[in-house]
Order: sequence, then C-alpha cells, then structure tokens
Amino acid sequence: MPAVISMTAATITSPNGSIVLNVDVNSVGEPYYNLSYKDKPVIIDSKLGLAAKEAKFTDQFKILSTDTASFNETWQPVWGEFSEIVNHYNQLEVNLENSNGLLMTVCFRVFDDGMGFRYEFPLQDKANYLAVLDEVTEFNMPANNTMWVIPGDYDTDEYLFTETRISDVTDALKKYNGVHSESQREKELESTVQTPLLMKSDDGLYINVHEAALIGYPAMQLDVDTTTYSLKSHLTPDKLGVRGYLQLPFNTPWRTIIVSDDARDILASQLILNLNEPSKIEDTSWIKPMKFIGVWWEMFTGRQKTWAYSDDYRAKPGVTDYTKLKPNGRHPANTENVKKYIDFAAKHGIDAVLVEGWNEGWEDWASYRKNRQFLFDKPYPDFDLPYLRDYAKEKGVKLVMHHETAANALDYERQLDKAFQFMKDNNYDAVKTGYVGAIIPRSEHHTSQGMVDHAQYVIEKAAEYEIMIDSHEAPRPTGLIRTYPNWLAQESARGGEFESMGGNPPSHTALLPFTRLKGGPMDYTPGLFQTDLSYYGEGKDGKAMTTLARQLALYLTMPSPMQMAADLPENYERFPDAFQFIEDVPVEWRDSKYLEAEPAQYITVARLDKNSDDWYIGAITDDTPREAVIDLSFLPAGEKFIATIYADAPDADWETNPQAYTIKKVNVNNKTKLKQKLARGGGAAIRLQPVK
Ligand code: NOJ
Ligand code: CA
Repeated sequence: MPAVISMTAATITSPNGSIVLNVDVNSVGEPYYNLSYKDKPVIIDSKLGLAAKEAKFTDQFKILSTDTASFNETWQPVWGEFSEIVNHYNQLEVNLENSNGLLMTVCFRVFDDGMGFRYEFPLQDKANYLAVLDEVTEFNMPANNTMWVIPGDYDTDEYLFTETRISDVTDALKKYNGVHSESQREKELESTVQTPLLMKSDDGLYINVHEAALIGYPAMQLDVDTTTYSLKSHLTPDKLGVRGYLQLPFNTPWRTIIVSDDARDILASQLILNLNEPSKIEDTSWIKPMKFIGVWWEMFTGRQKTWAYSDDYRAKPGVTDYTKLKPNGRHPANTENVKKYIDFAAKHGIDAVLVEGWNEGWEDWASYRKNRQFLFDKPYPDFDLPYLRDYAKEKGVKLVMHHETAANALDYERQLDKAFQFMKDNNYDAVKTGYVGAIIPRSEHHTSQGMVDHAQYVIEKAAEYEIMIDSHEAPRPTGLIRTYPNWLAQESARGGEFESMGGNPPSHTALLPFTRLKGGPMDYTPGLFQTDLSYYGEGKDGKAMTTLARQLALYLTMPSPMQMAADLPENYERFPDAFQFIEDVPVEWRDSKYLEAEPAQYITVARLDKNSDDWYIGAITDDTPREAVIDLSFLPAGEKFIATIYADAPDADWETNPQAYTIKKVNVNNKTKLKQKLARGGGAAIRLQPVK
C-alpha cells in the first residue's frame, strides 16, 4: 500500500520543525490528518470523528476556521523523574461544521517529541447530550511496523507482551484466547491491542500511541487492520454497548503519539504529562513519596498464608461477629507479625509498612463476596489497630492502608468517607486500592466510563482527606498524576507478583518503561531477593527470571514515588549488603538521563537524587547477557565521585545462580566509561557519591 501523505488545508510544525502535521477534510467531508517526523511518514491520512446515537460527527464537514498558537512554559512536578519539565508546543485548532449544523473542534498540539489531539464539542443547538457509539479516530501506519502488544481486554492489562508485525497481530493474539473470564476477546477483540502501544518501523522510528487525561470517558484500545496497517480507536463499552454518555460542552481525552528515531527519547518524553492539566491540589506539602515493605509477599510465596482471618465463614453465612469464628492460624496480618515488619522498617529507614488482609470481608473474596462485604473500618480480631498505630508512630514508621474492593466500586463509594476518615483517625495517609474480579456494578467494565469516573471520584475524595493512592486493577494511567499528584502509583500491568504465578521474562521489564510507564509510575513491587520459590518448600517451585542484582536496578528503570521492597524481611536479612542499596535509593529525582535503550532488550538510566548530589544508575538486560557501556559524561566536570557498584557476579545467571553478586567501589569522573557485564536476566545498580 502506498504511503499517502496529502497536501492539506492546515499545516503546523513542532517548535524545532522536525514534526509536521497536516489536517483537512476529504471529498465527503470527513476530517483527517497525517504526521511526519524528519520527513519520514509516521501516520498517513487518518480519519477523525465520533458517532453518537443522537448525532454523527464524522462526515459532511467543512472547515470553518483554524486558529494557531504557541506555548512554552517550564513547570515543576511535585515528584517524579525530573524537577522541571518543559512544555513547548505549537497548537492548531480546526473548527468544523457539518451540513446538519453540528459543531466540532479538533485541537492539535505538536511537540518536538510527538503530538496530541482531542475533540472539543462546544455547547450547540442540535445535540447537547450524546450517547457515544463509536470514535472513528484512526492512526494509519505507512508500513508493516513491528509492535509489542498485549491483547485487547476491557477488564485487565495484566499480560505478558508479544512481539509481532502488524500483519500478524490476529494470529499473535490467538494465544491469549480463553485466558479471560469473559470471551470478549475471541469475538469483538480478536485484533484489538491495548495502549500504550509501542511500534518500531523498518526505517528506524519508535512510535508510542496512547492517550492523556482520561476523564469522564472510556479508555481507548486499538483495532488493528492487518492488511491496511490501520489502527482505529476502540472505546470500552458498558455492557449495554454504549461507550460513553456525554453532556456538552465536552473535551475528549488527548490521543497521543510519541515519536523519535532514538529509543531513549521515548523513555524521556514528558508529552503525556504535558497534555494533562496542572495540579488541582494547591497545597501539596502533605504528598510524600515513600519506600515501603508489606505484609504481602507472604501470601504469594506458597506458604499457604491467607488474607482471610478464618476459613469457616462460608459455613456460617450471616455471622457478623468475627470473634465467634475460628481463626485459621495462617493470617499474617496479625499484631505480632505486623510489629516485626514495623521493627524491620524502623531499623532500615524504610518509610512505611503495607498490611493486607487486616479488615473484615476476605473470606470467600476470590469468589466475590457471595456472603461477605468488605468493611473498611472493621479490623479483624487479631489486628490490634490502636496498639499498632501507636507502636508505628513511636518507631517513626507509617502504616499503609489496604482497600480491596473486589471490584464492587459502588459499595466502595458508599463507604468512602467513612473509610478515609477511619484512615485519618488512625494515622494512615496512603492507601493501596484494588479491584480484583469481574463483578462491576451497573454493567461497567474495569475500563469503561463508569469506572473511569469512579477512579476520579476516589482520587478527588482522597485529595480532600489528604490521602495518597496506589491503585491496582484501575483504568491504566494517562498522566493524571500531574493533575492529582496524590495518585502516587498504579499497578495496571503485569507486576512482580506474577513471579509467583508463572513468571515475567526479563524482556517484560525492559519493555514496560516504553509502554505502560508512559502513563505514570507503576507499583511493580521490585526487590525480590529469594527468586527461587522452591526455597519455601510448599507448592511453589517457579524461578523468577531475574538475578538479585537486576532487582536492585529495577528501582531505577521502573521509577515510582511509592516504591516497594517486596520480599520478606527475613530474606533481606540474609543479604544485608545488597539491601543497603534499597535503603539508599531515593524515590524522587532532580534529573534523569537515559543512556542506553532498546525496547524489550535493555535500558540503562542515570538519575540525580532530588535531595542530594548523588547519582544512581540502573542497567538491565533481557535473557541475553550484555555489556552495558555507561558513559558518565553527564557528571559535573572536574568533580570526583566514588561509585558503589552492585553487579552480577561473573557466574551469575537468573536460572542457575541468581543470588551471585559483587559489590565494589571505584573512583569515577565525567570522563569515565564504565563497562558493566550483565548476566542473563541480570542487571547492575550503582550509587555515585561526590567526594567532598
Ligand atoms: C491484586 C493486587 O495486585 C495484589 O497486589 C493484592 O495483594 C491482591 N490483589 C489482593 O488485594
Ligand atoms: Ca493485580
């Protein structure tokens, strides 16, 4: 198929001229756009528009007028990879009217690293209430790009990716059939993939397609046409088939395209954050990035520990007095055990302790509360909250709350004020939320409009109470952390917990920063030191495909302001010299330099601590050993640094020798190029301290 880039009515370039956008309407009045990067086509003529039950904003359009503007500001995020972010773009607004008098504006912002556009529907005479049936936005590729895909799914994104050509997507996705609880994928999602989607063209361009500022609208996935190489927006519907209910005036989320001929630029791009609104929270002084450990991995290791306090609840439906139930003796969220975690955190300078399974409702939770409701202000009888609250406070450690809703979002909304007040009364100021399961009230999916609205309701309510959120199983992030900086992290991808459920190949964490992380930080839960689960001797025998040193590097390559040390304290106590790195590594940064990167293969990144002059470096590889070449020319000239290098030992290998590491100190400066060997599934982590 020939690459079509036509001459058009309106053209705009990025500030440095490398990106060119053209917009026009075709002979039947369908609006379309195309995009190029350094004269290479990125997106060929692609249609724009939206169809609702009440009105079709798709064709018969003419361009009424266009407006252009330029914008250049530098802003300071509350936390993140950089202390300053430049937001520099040229804007083109195309004002359209169709033959029925319907009005629609498409607003494009063209940056040096890509483009965002959204539909803006003004208040109008013909239709002010819309039930959205389809968004016709296309992203048509000029050629048969390579793509790294996870399958379309309205409810979960916890998948391993597959590398494929566009032409082979349907076949590539077949292997995911039957995995999901509903059979949607086999039917309407058989050629659908999720965003953030990364592609690479044969002429060397890296292209990321996603969205920014997902508010009041369903999440977008992409239907792939394997013969024309066209990608088309596929909005998550509710179970009645409606994709969104809009009251005009309304602006859709931004559709985003990040592009470069250098893979490192995709990682460094702040385009998605830039397309989000500035913080709605004025006083952000209470928002505090943190490292935490958790009463958590115990439930995954195969030691038969449970979130539930008792096993006999199902036998006695209707019982609400837990003190009458027989404890199962396998419940780690008990006072004595939590105390040990608090002691460990206090001893090692870890800010906080997450406790899961502390509250009533876990019996039968995986079958979705057939006879239970989660209560967010009712501790189990063996969890002495007043005591632990005071004990933690005395030790200078925070407790992190956990709210598993099992996807009953409406019930959670009803309890929310009470739950957040309960947190404040007990000295909690961060909560990990969860939405495991398929039972979503009011016929919603995890990523349909209703659940997007729910996520916004929760984050705004949390801000009122000065509470920070780490959400699991919520709609994947779209940069809303800029607007709501109390949204420290999300899961929204296949995380470290899967090391106990089938494993994550090392390429997984070498891809996530190019895809999922473009929307915001992930609570990946790094820090697994005991990677061979047969160690526990009970059931689990998998080996995580990672060396111990690589787990340290993940603190740099998977940055998050809410960063877990996921393993058990007893495992950290076996490797105190390696744990020192986790103790030292910061969770917010003044600057970040991506030194080496290739999707799904390797990443090397250096970051400058926000609160000191120390640099930290993380390097990871995939299943192939590699030598990272770490060019330290970013260091200030003339200054000496001492580098503490945590590396794979020469004989390290994720499969045969994962816990073999070395720690050494060397003197470096900005002329140094460190050559660092990374094992199969390996990595290296380095701390650089200025010599005073
Ligand atoms: C799934 C979450 O991802 C996991 O971290 C959590 O422990 C369980 N749900 C229970 O809430
Ligand atoms: Ca999960």
